[in-house]
Amino acid sequence: MPGTSLRILFSAQQIQKRIQEMGAQIDADYPDGSLHVVCILKGACFFMADLARAIERDVVIDFMGISSYGGGKSTSGAVQLTKDLDTTVEGTDVLLVEDIVDSGVTLNYLINVIQQRKPRSVRVAALLDKPDRRQRPVKVTYVGFQIPDEFVVGFGLDYAEQYRNLRDICVLEEPPAA
Ligand code: IMP
Ligand code: MG
Repeated sequence: MPGTSLRILFSAQQIQKRIQEMGAQIDADYPDGSLHVVCILKGACFFMADLARAIERDVVIDFMGISSYGGGKSTSGAVQLTKDLDTTVEGTDVLLVEDIVDSGVTLNYLINVIQQRKPRSVRVAALLDKPDRRQRPVKVTYVGFQIPDEFVVGFGLDYAEQYRNLRDICVLEEPPAA
């Protein structure tokens, strides 16, 4: 995009190493049995694909679509379900997989939606966490990296639908106003 520049925060290699560690931790934590991995679209698509392959137990994969952003850099506060699960989660261990937890509004809403369906357990795995920005409480059991309050793109994360296919996670920097 014109007028912006990208600074690498986590390289593709660092991301992959951390995801392998998270997969091993998840395998160690859960009792035997299948895990219901729910990808929150669209930002978590690459993270989920790599995390699910870093988990060795059986997994069921499903997708939920949510939109809480306009085209900007902070949440609109209104969460909308744009795609529901294809599978039932009653009695299953659900792992919600999210790209980044920012205000917490999205996950706070989604955890409630899932809880109403009576799963055995619900946990969250997020690649990135911006704890300074939290408005709603969310327990994130598996965090890839904690980051300061900066806007990041790449590895699934977008700004106005751009940059999702970058292999690294980058800070999107704008030049100071002239
Ligand atoms: P929350 O509801 O405020 O926690 O927002 C979570 C969603 O906001 C994430 O799934 C992202 O889609 C988006 N988001 C939050 N921070 C960033 C960022 O730094 N870059 C790109 N998207 C972000
Ligand atoms: Mg998202």
